[in-house]
Parts: sequence; C-alpha cells; structure tokens
Amino acid sequence: AEADIGLIGLGTMGSALALNIAEKGFPIAVYNRTAQVTRDFHAGAGELATRVIPTESLEELVAAIKPPRAIILMVPAGSPVDQQIEALAPLLDPQDLVIDAGNANFHDTNRRAEAGLPMRFLGVGVSGGEDGARHGPSIMGGGAQQDWDRIAPILTAIAARAEDGTPCATRMGEAGAGHFVKAVHNGIEYADMQMIAEIYGLMRDGMGLPADRIAGIFERWNDGPLQSYLIEISGKVAHAPDPHSGQPMLDVILDRAGQKGTGRWTAIEAQHLAAPIPVIEAAVMARNVSARLAERKAAEERFGPAPQPCDLDEDLLERALIAGKILCYAQGFAMISAASEAFGWSLPLPDIARVWRAGCIIRSTMLNDMAEALTENPGRNLIMAPGFASRIEEALPALRRVVSEGLAQGHPLPALAQGLTWFDMMRTARGTANMIQAQRDFFGAHGFERLDGRDDPHGPWGA
Ligand code: 6PG
Repeated sequence: AEADIGLIGLGTMGSALALNIAEKGFPIAVYNRTAQVTRDFHAGAGELATRVIPTESLEELVAAIKPPRAIILMVPAGSPVDQQIEALAPLLDPQDLVIDAGNANFHDTNRRAEAGLPMRFLGVGVSGGEDGARHGPSIMGGGAQQDWDRIAPILTAIAARAEDGTPCATRMGEAGAGHFVKAVHNGIEYADMQMIAEIYGLMRDGMGLPADRIAGIFERWNDGPLQSYLIEISGKVAHAPDPHSGQPMLDVILDRAGQKGTGRWTAIEAQHLAAPIPVIEAAVMARNVSARLAERKAAEERFGPAPQPCDLDEDLLERALIAGKILCYAQGFAMISAASEAFGWSLPLPDIARVWRAGCIIRSTMLNDMAEALTENPGRNLIMAPGFASRIEEALPALRRVVSEGLAQGHPLPALAQGLTWFDMMRTARGTANMIQAQRDFFGAHGFERLDGRDDPHGPWGA
C-alpha cells in the first residue's frame, strides 16, 4: 500500500479533487464504478499520473491505501452514499475513515454518524465547483475532532487560501454540522444569484440596457464593495456572445432555472427552526416559478407583460444590492445561530464567515468584514454590528427606492423586497402581531400578553 488516501467517484468534482490532492504531493488511489473512466482519468492525469494509483475493484482500492485508511466518497448524494458505505464495510477496519464529500443532506449525515457504522465517518461540504475542487475549494467539515485531525493535513493542503493566507478548511462540529453549513452556503448562493438576477432584470427591462452595457456595470461593481465571484461571473456571462447567432449569450438562454435541491433544504430547515430567511426562501420560490414556463406564457397572454420603464440608475442599483446582500447574510448567519442552539452544536460563526472568504461560490471581500464583525460578537445579528449598521443606513434609501419603483412598474423583485420587508419588521418595536394575538384569542381562547403587564389574558369577545 502506498496511497495516503483513496477516492471513489471520478465525476467532474471527484476527478478535480483527486488531481488537486495528487498535486499537493499526496499519492492517491482512485476508483470508479466504470473502470474505463478510471483508466481515462489516469491516462489524462499528465505528470500527476505518477501519484495516482488507478484501481478497478474496491478490494484493490482498499489494498492500495496505507492503514488506517481514509477514503473520500464523491458520489451523488442520497442512497448512492449508503450503498457505497455498505459495499466498503466488509473491506475496511474499524479505524478506517470514510469521508462523504458530496452535497449530502445534513440529516442523512447525522443519521449515518449515529448509525454506528463499522468504520469512522466524516461529512464534508465542498464548495467551489470544478475549478474550486481542482485548485482550492472551501471545505466545511463535520464529525469527530480526532477524525478531522487525521485528514486535516490533506484537506488544508488542497483548500483555497484567504487573502491573509488562512486555508479555507474548517471543522464546523459534530456529525452533519459541515453539511449543514454547506446547505446554508448554498441557500445564500441562491439568494445572491437571485438578487443579481433581479437587478439584471431592472437594467434589461426597466432601463432598456443591452447585455454589453450590463456587463460593463457588473465589471465596475466588481472593483467596489460588491466585489465577489458571483458579480465577476455575472459580468462575464453578460459579456459573452453566442457562438451560433452572435447575439449576447444571455439573450438566447431560456429563463428556466434548475436546482439540485440544497437551497430548498435550507428553506425547509429554516421553517423547522422558525428562523426567518425570507431572502433565501424568495430565491427558492423564484426558481420554482421560473420552472413554470408554460403557465407563465399563458398568463402573460391573458394579462399582458408586467415590466414598464423605470426611473433608476446604476448607482441606486449598486447601493440597493449592497443593502440586499447584507440583509441576506444577516438572515443566513442568524439561521446558523438558531441551528447551533437547536442541535446543540457550537457552530463557529466567525470561522464560517472566514471559510467562505475564498474558494466557494459566495466568496467576496464583504465576507472579510463579516468575519471581523462576528469575531467581535458572534451572538449579535449582523445588522447590529456597527460597521454593517452604518452601511445599511447608507444603502437603505436606495434599496427602498429601487424596490418601490421596481414594484410600481411591474418588476418582480422577490428577494430584494423580502430583504427590505424583513429589515423594516426587525427595526419595528411595535408591530402588528397584536392583531394576530387578538384573533387567536377570539377564536381559540389562546390568550395574550398585555402591554400594561396586567394579568388578564383574554379579551371581552364572548361577552
Ligand atoms: C458549490 C455549489 C455546488 C452546487 C451547484 C448547483 O458550492 O460549489 O453550491 O455545490 O451543487 O451550485 O446547485 P443547484 O443545482 O442547486 O443550483
């Protein structure tokens, strides 16, 4: 046995991760269900091939790894992971470690961790797409500290590095904690993407800007407070021409979004936790509405198209997006706090912000400041951190202006509008739930608390 680690599943992410590991100097044994895929991978590994040991059976794979063994699973989430664990079980020793690095639902990871598997087990969220996996992903681990420590040298070596040199690989806590943090990452990913799409819609349909002008605006924003991977690639996609028609690529892409489900899991979990993440929920909803293309077409024929020209400009849109982004992250981090308490995890909020600074899809310079604010006080909502409170104050009028003008002119802005509504609710000491409480008491004698503190929890409704 000569390999430091093994990997099962040579799809896009698995192949990229295996090459990254080999490049960092760790001999790696690889296995794929279809042997030809393994052979092709080895043949295409170039000078890294000397550190890649191709194997054509699980027995061969296990025999190629130095004990106690570590094996990364990069297979589709769900039952393929269970099947793979089952197939490996008779071949592994109790001290061998299986690392599920796919996009597992964290409930599955919890279940596996509690099932008393015949081997050690870690659930690890990996973000950054193919390029991240190849050259430096962001890694969110979950499981026992001793198991994380064993594999940390490899995961740290392959991870992205933040500007200050810190590797973006962190253990988040027990069992499913890593996959949970990855799910929230994906929820925020959906929300960031949706807010950018809404702003794009205002530029396209409200301001009548062509794709190349829009590209230029995103490019400029990427030099400012909005600097992020998603703004950068939005500029690039808006810029690209379609090789077939020469039209802007964006103008020939069908407006029907796909999803593998991680954003939806986040929204569902937020409901279980009673954690308000309306910007993320709006983003999931928007993808679901986008999928109903035939219904949308029929309704547009019946009611006519909604969007009208808008009185907006580039500066207003930039500031609105800054505000929306801060509000979205404030919700995401608050959800992580709620989960930390509900699941008895001590999720390290500042470290989560840090691990997202590089490598992952939501990487941005703003996360540097979020990490600092959460380090100062991890229990405080981000909107109350002085640096962010002042940024919100500065950008809020623009968000309000963009949302009200956009809605008035028929532009759907689900995520931006939800961010604003949530913030206005959060800053309101006397809301309207007194009406809800009175109604509940009226029809169900549910009782209420009184502002004057008097102990008289029912209204005179029956009288
Ligand atoms: C990442 C991404 C990735 C995710 C894709 C697709 O962090 O690298 O989150 O894990 O699978 O972005 O997600 P959807 O198909 O749900 O959009």
